[in-house]
Order: sequence, then structure tokens, then C-alpha cells
Amino acid sequence: MPTLTPFISVSRECPFTSKEATTVISPIWQAEGAKDDDDNKADSKTPRFSQSHALDALGEAIGFSIYDFAQEEGFSGARATQLILRLPESEHYAVKRVILLGLGKPKNADQGALSKAYAFALKSLLGKDESLHTVAVSLVKNYERFGGSLLNDEDNKVNVEADVIAQAVLKALYDATYVSAESLKPVKAFKKVILITEHVEVVEKKLPFLTALNNGRALAKDLVNKPANTKTVQTLVDAATEIAQANPDLFTLTVVDDLATLEKEMPCFYTVARGNVKSDPPRFIHLVYKGKNASRKVALVGKSVIFDTGGYQVKPGNYMVTMKGDMAGGASVLGTAKALAELKPENVEVHMFLAATPNKIDADAMIPDSIVDTTCGKKVEIRHTDAEGRLTLIDAVTKANELDPEAIITIATLTGAAKMAVGNTICMMSNSAKWGSLLEASAKTSGDAVQYVDVTPADFENIKSKLDGADIRNTNRGSERGFQTAGAFVMSGAKEGTPVVHLDIAGADMLEDETSTGTPVATLFTFVTGL
Ligand code: BES
Ligand code: MN
Ligand code: ZN
Repeated sequence: MPTLTPFISVSRECPFTSKEATTVISPIWQAEGAKDDDDNKADSKTPRFSQSHALDALGEAIGFSIYDFAQEEGFSGARATQLILRLPESEHYAVKRVILLGLGKPKNADQGALSKAYAFALKSLLGKDESLHTVAVSLVKNYERFGGSLLNDEDNKVNVEADVIAQAVLKALYDATYVSAESLKPVKAFKKVILITEHVEVVEKKLPFLTALNNGRALAKDLVNKPANTKTVQTLVDAATEIAQANPDLFTLTVVDDLATLEKEMPCFYTVARGNVKSDPPRFIHLVYKGKNASRKVALVGKSVIFDTGGYQVKPGNYMVTMKGDMAGGASVLGTAKALAELKPENVEVHMFLAATPNKIDADAMIPDSIVDTTCGKKVEIRHTDAEGRLTLIDAVTKANELDPEAIITIATLTGAAKMAVGNTICMMSNSAKWGSLLEASAKTSGDAVQYVDVTPADFENIKSKLDGADIRNTNRGSERGFQTAGAFVMSGAKEGTPVVHLDIAGADMLEDETSTGTPVATLFTFVTGL
């Protein structure tokens, strides 16, 4: 994996006199009086900007008002717009160009929007002359006006705010410089990035977490983005092996590869694997991270369907495209493992499970109208070979449960219904209000968009099988509540009383351009390190 992380430092110094930085990115809020976020037309009657100390200082150094300049150029500070100011050489400042970066109005800003705006500015710099590639990025001021919902903790306000903004900017930096392992495009990354902030200590303290998180997220993206013809079950085994071998004191890895064992102990998972045994045999991956003083134990179970053709009830062509990403749940779990390997938090033990197999077909592949066993003992009526994810997960959940974790988190590109309902957002469900809220809070602090939805007793009722000799079925009756009933199915693998939080990321994992977002590594890493 190409690592494009530049050297990042934190400084209080005014960016305009910095001897190192040749480019300064200076964020600017659009004035509340302006019409709307996307309105970039100059309007002399409304005040356009919130004042910024950094820009005041620059104005003083160069001898004219940045605000007047921007106004004359018709720049309003609308979100993800920028105005570039080139400066002649001078003994009074070292910077050659200043990018005024529009953030839109503070009341409309959330971590994601802020991050996108910064990424936009950073991206525009890539490929420019090498001498430009030490960049000072000014973290936005007016903290008190940013992201109301995240900032309930009054005592800790400045810390939380600086922290949230640093998180958004670091994500932007990684997003802007990300290239997949398979990409042939050479990308010039930045030589150095200096984060300018009043809260140097807060941001410095958070940097190890943020770099670990972003490196983990990059791994998840790489695994998902890998072309289908180069990705196998072994790809995931290799990624897990690499993490474990690099940190033998922190990780243990068990890979069950014996087919007879898998068939006997995880029969429902093996049902999906049947049609792939000859071409790409299944593996059950169990990767354990154990901090030095671990007192908490949680399990992460990631859907790892290497490619989803739909099986015998084959997907129509258009729907099959992007199904190389059906292992995004597993990829996000491995991404979290990588982040753990880097940060080495002490108090937590994390059990990570990936039941990996493609959903492809040969003469042995599963067919509908079958009844199959599960690890938990329930009998499953197969009604649709394309509802394969839940078949792999139910057994993995039972296996995870055997280790008595406090909670089990499942992460899966599980249903088109979740994608339709919540789009590019994590669709979260839980059988435990306590653990559900914990995960929801982790998602929100981490910047991952999330929607918390209830799974009801009626959803469990819905998936009961009417067949003699079967307990549950792998599709819902009717066309409603497709993701809640899938969630109910997955939770059915756990013992009564075990908290399960289920994240359906069918819509959250991929961007419109069909590249991975690495969601929800941020949520998972925030959750496991915050325990
Ligand atoms: N992997 C798909 C879900 C999916 C759809 C993920 C679109 C990402 C984008 C899953 O295995 C699937 O095919 N689900 C079916 C279930 C149905 C047959 C009950 C679906 O959602 O249509
Ligand atoms: Mn499917
Ligand atoms: Zn699938």
C-alpha cells in the first residue's frame, strides 16, 4: 500500500511568516447574512465573511485587506469554493500563495462538510510544482460556532472543537492524497503539512490517534477498491497475517481452513461457500488484539463476501457491478486492526472475525428451497441465494459469542434496502439500547454519518419459517423492512441477552464514483479505543 502520509506538524505560528510553507490554506466562513451555502455571488450589501485573525495578519503583512480583495473577486466563502492569491516575493512574508477556502456558513457545517471543503483545497494543490508542496493548513477559528450537536460538553468545549476540526482536516489530507494500491497514476503528495492552530497541545495529543485511524481507513479502502479479478479470500487472510506478524506481542491470528471443520462447525456459512470450494475456498479468520492491560472485551464481525454474484438467483448485470465491495465489512474490521496495531491502546481486547467466501456458483452451489443448519442450532430456509451475507454472519456471530464479549458489532454491506433508505449513511440497529447509543455516539464523534433504526419483535416474527423443519428464513415476507429483518436474522445467531449492534453499510461504503469511503473504520476505532 502506498503510504502518502506526509510529515505532519502542529504550530501556533502565523502561517504567513513561516519560512517553510510556500502555500497557506486559510479557511473562511461565509457570513450568516449571505443567501445560502452555495451562493457564491458577490452582494455588496451583505457582510460576506466572519473575521479571521489569520487573514487580518496577512492583510497587515501585504498592505491591503484580504476581505476587500475577496469581495472584488466575487468570492463569498461558499462551501468548497476557493480563491487563490499569489504573492510576489517579499522580505515580509515567505508564502507564495494563499488559498482562501470557503467553508459555507458555520451553522451548516458538520465534520463531513468541513472535511470535504479542506480536501477540495488540498486536492487542487496536488501535481503542482514540487516547491509548493510544503503546505500550512490553518485550522478554522470561530470554534464556538461550529458543529453545535457535537459540542454538548461545555467544560471541554475548546478541546472537543479543536479535536473535531483536526479530525476533519486529517481526513481531508488523506482523502486528497489517497491512491489505491492498483492505481498506476503517480501522485505527488505533500512534503510536509503544518497544521496551524491556537490549540497546539490538543491537536498534538490527538495526532497519533488520527494518523492511526487514517492509515487503517486507507487499508480498508485499498482492500475494497482492489479489482474483482485480483481479489480472493486469500487477500483478506494475507492482510490479517501482515498485521499479526508485524505485531506478534499484540495480535494472535487463527485461520480455519479445513473444509470439513468449516462444514461441520459453521454449516450456514459453508452453504454460501459450497459453490466456490474449488475456485476460492472459504476461510474463517479470527484476529485478536489484546492491549497490555485489557479489561474490556468486544467482538467485531465483518461481512466478507469476496464477490457477490447473487448465486443461482443471479443479480441482473447492473446490480452486480460494485459487488467486489461486498467484503467492505471485513475490510473495515481489518482497517480497525491496523489502526489498533499503530496506536496500541492498552485497556481493550478486540476479537475480529471474518467469514470469507465469494458468492459464486458451480454445480455444488446453494439453491433456494433448501434447509440448512447453523452454528447456533436454528434451521434456516434458503429462499434467496442473494441474501447470502446474513447466512455467513449468523454463524460468525455465534462463534464470536462463544468468547463471551461484552458486545458484538456486525458490519456488513447487507441490503439494498438500507442503501435506499439512508443513502451514504451507516444504517445502525441494535438489540441493546445501551450499546446502540454507545456506537451511535462513536459514529458521531468520529465524523461517520449514522442513522439509528429500531429492530422490533415484529421483524423477528417476520422471518420465522413456515416450513416443517425450518426455524427462520433468509428473506423477509413482503417488501417492507428489508434491512431490519436482515438485522434480526444476524442477531438471531447470538445468545439471548448478548448485545449486538449491527451496522448495514450497503450505502455508506462506496462513493458515487464507486470508490470506497473506508466507512466505518472511524466509528469502530473510536468505539474500541473509547471503551
Ligand atoms: N450485497 C448485497 C447488498 C448490497 C446491495 C450491497 C447494493 C451494496 C449495494 C446483498 O447480499 C444482497 O444481495 N441483498 C439482497 C437481499 C434480498 C435478496 C433479500 C438485496 O438487498 O436485494
Ligand atoms: Mn447478495
Ligand atoms: Zn452480498
